[in-house]
Amino acid sequence: MASGLTMDKIVSLARRRGFVFPSSEIYGGLGSSYDYGHYGVLLKENVKARWLEAMVQERDDIVALDSAIILHPRIWEASGHVGGFTDPLVDCRTCKKRFRADHLADEQCGRKPSKRPGETSECDLTEARQFNLMFETRVGPVEETGQRVFLRPETAQGIFVNFKNVAQLARRKPPFGIAQLGKSFRNEITPGNFIFRTLEFEQMEMEFFVPPDAADQWYRYWIDERVAWYVRYGLRQESLRVRPHDPDELSHYSSATSDIEYLYPIGWSELEGIANRGTFDLTAHAEASGTTLEWVDGGSGERYVPAVIEPAAGVNRAMLAFLCDAYDEEVVGDRERTVLRLHPEIAPVKVAVLPLIPRDAGIAERARALHQELRRVMVAEHDDGGQIGRRYRRQDEIGTPWALTVDEQTLVDETVTIRDRDTLAQERISISRAREHLLDRLAAPWAPPARG
Ligand code: GAP
Repeated sequence: MASGLTMDKIVSLARRRGFVFPSSEIYGGLGSSYDYGHYGVLLKENVKARWLEAMVQERDDIVALDSAIILHPRIWEASGHVGGFTDPLVDCRTCKKRFRADHLADEQCGRKPSKRPGETSECDLTEARQFNLMFETRVGPVEETGQRVFLRPETAQGIFVNFKNVAQLARRKPPFGIAQLGKSFRNEITPGNFIFRTLEFEQMEMEFFVPPDAADQWYRYWIDERVAWYVRYGLRQESLRVRPHDPDELSHYSSATSDIEYLYPIGWSELEGIANRGTFDLTAHAEASGTTLEWVDGGSGERYVPAVIEPAAGVNRAMLAFLCDAYDEEVVGDRERTVLRLHPEIAPVKVAVLPLIPRDAGIAERARALHQELRRVMVAEHDDGGQIGRRYRRQDEIGTPWALTVDEQTLVDETVTIRDRDTLAQERISISRAREHLLDRLAAPWAPPARG
């Protein structure tokens, strides 16, 4: 994260360039809920695609799954969510605000924001009570008689209840994993720090089934793998740390959990959790459903309930970390520029094609043709609006790694200028090789430039 970076700067850039908007804005907004605009969608899709590549495409031992969001309600009883997925809450009878009882030190009094809830003589806090984070709804046309169901608060349970299907049909034996990406929902009552904590969010979860005596070894393996993934896609090592949970922090299912934390503008906070869930989930679902959920070796007849190692990441939190780490401001010449130094494979747009003199028919035509050619293989933008300097700055702010400028010389020698977002170096390359040149640069390893 750049020094002096505030969440306000990220929120303002995200808004200004159409990455993220407050949800339901024309109705006054809905707290902890956001909509993603064009560049936000492209960025988010890139994060998900890189995760799926690393988890499934580049490995032989993980398969993909897309389970339903609304699952049988008994799943949430067996998983422990109906009984235990709660936050302790207190209400203030004076200001009518609601707070997490275990986070009072981080909250602001509703009347005097410089004070903590309970700190002033006017504060009148209720006793803490447990509040379940799952959103409830009903299946069926008649509200009173419909079946009570839940929007999933994690994608993981859809994986556990499909263990048998996948183990049989995908012909996998432990150690093997099932990866799932998708929306989850939590009735979070604490305001969320932009997209860090929201009511609905996307998760990237993978449940890795292993022989129980190998669980610890795989737990450590997945912590290292997941840190390496964030570094591979541009997060600086110094902005990441691994924090093992204290025993009193562990979830009901976990025997060990480590958070990969990122140094967000709000301080070190969880980006992803890696948990050793042991045999808790498969055992619980086997007992509740009456279906045996074991691994049986066809040859030796050996049978056991596999332990589960779970790297569970949030797409939106990852996106926020990539934005924070990439954000930079610098003065070039006498002008200030804001630039997102995103990894090219994470950047929403890979290349911008800019006709230097848009009213010149020859230049305009070559630029259009080049854009058409490039957009077949990567996200490419054509921009002919305004001065060239302004167009460069627009692309810098959305993190476009390269800009190709078509100018008068193009019409003479069939070359274009390629401008590098990070170094600002410009060189001329042949227009006929532009596509290969960009594909080579996209495939090349990339590391964030050192901070000045
Ligand atoms: N299956 C385990 C599980 O769900 P978690 O730590 O509660 O574990 C995993 O969630 C990840 O999901 C978190 O590390 C975070 O990135 C993301 N996440 C959780 N709650 C979130 C929320 N309300 N808003 C945005 N992301 C959230």
